Amino acid sequence: MTVVVVEARGAVHGMADPHVVVLFGATGDLAKRKLLPGLFHLSNSHLAPEIRIVATSLDDLDTEGFKKVAEKACKEFSTRKITNESWKDFVDRLSYVPVGAGADALAKAVKEHRGQMPEGTRVLAYLSVPPKAALAAITTLDKAGLAQEANVIMEKPFGTDLASAKSLNSSIHEVLKERQIFRIDHFLGKEPAQNILAFRFANGLFEPIWNRNFIDHIQIDVPEKLTLEGRAVFYEPTGAYKDMVVTHLMQILAFVAMESPTALDAKSITIEKTKVFDSMRPLDPKRVVRGQYKGYRDEPGVDPESETETFIALECFIDNWRWAGVPFFLRTGKSLAAGQRIISIAFHEPPSSMFPANSGVGEHGPDHLTFDLADASKVSLSFYGKRPGPGMKLDKLSLQFAMQETENVGDVLEAYERLILDAMRGDHTLFTTADGIERLWAVSQPLLDNPPPVKGYEMFTWGPNAIHQLIAPRAWRLPFERVWRSKK
Ligand code: BG6
Repeated sequence: MTVVVVEARGAVHGMADPHVVVLFGATGDLAKRKLLPGLFHLSNSHLAPEIRIVATSLDDLDTEGFKKVAEKACKEFSTRKITNESWKDFVDRLSYVPVGAGADALAKAVKEHRGQMPEGTRVLAYLSVPPKAALAAITTLDKAGLAQEANVIMEKPFGTDLASAKSLNSSIHEVLKERQIFRIDHFLGKEPAQNILAFRFANGLFEPIWNRNFIDHIQIDVPEKLTLEGRAVFYEPTGAYKDMVVTHLMQILAFVAMESPTALDAKSITIEKTKVFDSMRPLDPKRVVRGQYKGYRDEPGVDPESETETFIALECFIDNWRWAGVPFFLRTGKSLAAGQRIISIAFHEPPSSMFPANSGVGEHGPDHLTFDLADASKVSLSFYGKRPGPGMKLDKLSLQFAMQETENVGDVLEAYERLILDAMRGDHTLFTTADGIERLWAVSQPLLDNPPPVKGYEMFTWGPNAIHQLIAPRAWRLPFERVWRSKK
């Protein structure tokens, strides 16, 4: 099977202007795991313009001290090879200003970099900080005289319900224009997520069957093996729904469910995504299973009586002509049996079958189209076919595609790299919008108001037993009955 890779930005794919990146929260977990290694890769790659970085955080470090932090982080977390030469080139582009030094010191550091860079150098601020600190960071940018011109990437969470999301958005809008704001949802930056758009809209084969007449149900399933990993302060008030579902899973759902946009650009894609969110039925708490892994309450920093869910599975519906009556089952959680990220589209079974009862037809569920959003990016179409030999025995067979087998696999950017580059270009296509996020909070309100009690589950299982009743008479695709084929 061949999948055509289409640039989701449409025709716009010029080199961005040189950039000074102001990285707030530069010593935090995300910066260490993803942002610094990502900036290192971009800075060394032919895909990005010249980049220099002013790092800032609450830590009282100087530039030399920060360079050591950055080196340790990149060596530990970069998936790319770091040579002495490439490291030297990158590290010379870093400087550090502690938050305590104030806005003037930040402005001075940006100015110093700019003095050594070409004319037309722009500023991108990355706010890798919690929401309260994000507003303070925007004020600092403003005081440093950068808020008028900078593009600003903001991290989730964007509020915790509709009222707080609205209030956050209006506070941000006091300083920044909407076009300057890039609300990141890193799932949209994943190469396989964009491949959903290519797959759906660059081929004539699938779109005619992409609707309620042919599709029985859809699963978006993102189990994680990770436990709390020391993130109690963030996770306790957040939980799996706010951390993963109202953000990543619903954004992916929009790519799967939206109508074809009039163009592959930010405006057209946003219009279609927003229509999906607008058509979403408010969640029914009775169709939600919340779980908590046994042992969670003993984690450092967790309330011994915590009701935070570390697992969630739910059913939701999109009430439009394409999807009326088709359930979307979403599941995610921590400390589960496997780490996977799949979208599984289950097709209706044939209306009647002439195959004998013992042929095996239907025994392995309906035909499925499966997208694997893991970095290896796979797509598989499974169907029943004849087992060679006498008689008519049927097996579940599949056509499989893996991005790793394509020629350009070396050009794959990690999600954060791709999105930083897009923000430098001013391209909002793969970012979320204030309206979309507010609508998702509105859809979530019945669940936020009446969350069902959390049910315990053993660590490294698939969650509470109630997940089977939720999806019955259908079944969860994971764990897969058959493993993905790997190239021999
Ligand atoms: C983050 C969540 O946004 O996404 C984490 O806060 C989660 O809890 C992570 O583990 C998953 O991202 P990825 O790219 O590793 O699937």
